[in-house]
Amino acid sequence: MIILNRIDTLKNELRQITKDKKIAFVPTMGALHEGHLSLISKAKKENDIVVVSIFINPTQFLQGEDLDTYPKKEQADAKLCELCGVDYLFLPNKEMMYEKDEILIKAPKTKGFILEGEKRPGHFDGMLQIVLKLFNIVNPTNAYFGKKDAQQLSLINQMVKNFYLDINIVACEIVRENDGLAMSSRNVYLDKHQRELALNISRSLNFAAKAVGANKTNSTLIIKEMEDFLSQYTEIKIEYITIVNREFEQINTIEIKNSIILIAVKIGNIRLIDNIWV
Ligand code: PAJ
Repeated sequence: MIILNRIDTLKNELRQITKDKKIAFVPTMGALHEGHLSLISKAKKENDIVVVSIFINPTQFLQGEDLDTYPKKEQADAKLCELCGVDYLFLPNKEMMYEKDEILIKAPKTKGFILEGEKRPGHFDGMLQIVLKLFNIVNPTNAYFGKKDAQQLSLINQMVKNFYLDINIVACEIVRENDGLAMSSRNVYLDKHQRELALNISRSLNFAAKAVGANKTNSTLIIKEMEDFLSQYTEIKIEYITIVNREFEQINTIEIKNSIILIAVKIGNIRLIDNIWV
């Protein structure tokens, strides 16, 4: 594996060796877990060359969020990437990725400012900005993103469409701990008690999925059942529970195989999101 932290060397390397080859790209913010590794291993199977980036992108964090405390595990991450057969690990820094006064990308007014975008206004602007930059540096055939961040995935698909990018976006399944907790770099913030509580997030989604399986398709009723279930745990503060179609439009009736049930909660100061595609 080659580790690079210069944009020009990465571009040159890739240009020289990638003629007629399929390049996969997996952008991350590091503190890699099985979720990230599943993206990498899918990328490895489906392409000739795998490029992973690790960059804790400051522009997608809001004031007061966890930018300064976001877990960093550069050496362990590099080892994991190497073991997974990553060909290039790109570790840029803030100075080379941004200049002071830039042309900015703006997330769409509706899809970019509801749900995660409403709770974290501006987050998606920064996310799209960095993903576009990274796409242009790596120039991948296929780029891999997790369904865990469903709204992010949807916005990236829209950016590819709106800007006519010649990149295939591959949506990857959510990887969970054995007890159902969706893997996340932020799970390390949870203490034992909070982690126990957090299991109720995926439980509530599973109840909802079962209800859908039993032909209950009224969104309001399903959301109410999830809220009622979670209300026993007063330390879980629900930020939103909602049901959208794959275009991220809120729907009153679940469309089978075209709907996503989304949840965001806070346990203490820790914000957790999860979802299930039904
Ligand atoms: P990060 O949170 O590090 O996630 C990198 C990728 O891993 C994303 O596509 C995310 O959806 C995926 N992922 C995270 N947890 C997962 C899980 N449990 N199962 C499957 N996939 C999972 O998302 C970002 O970084 C950033 O916003 C980024 C796209 C890198 C731009 O800065």
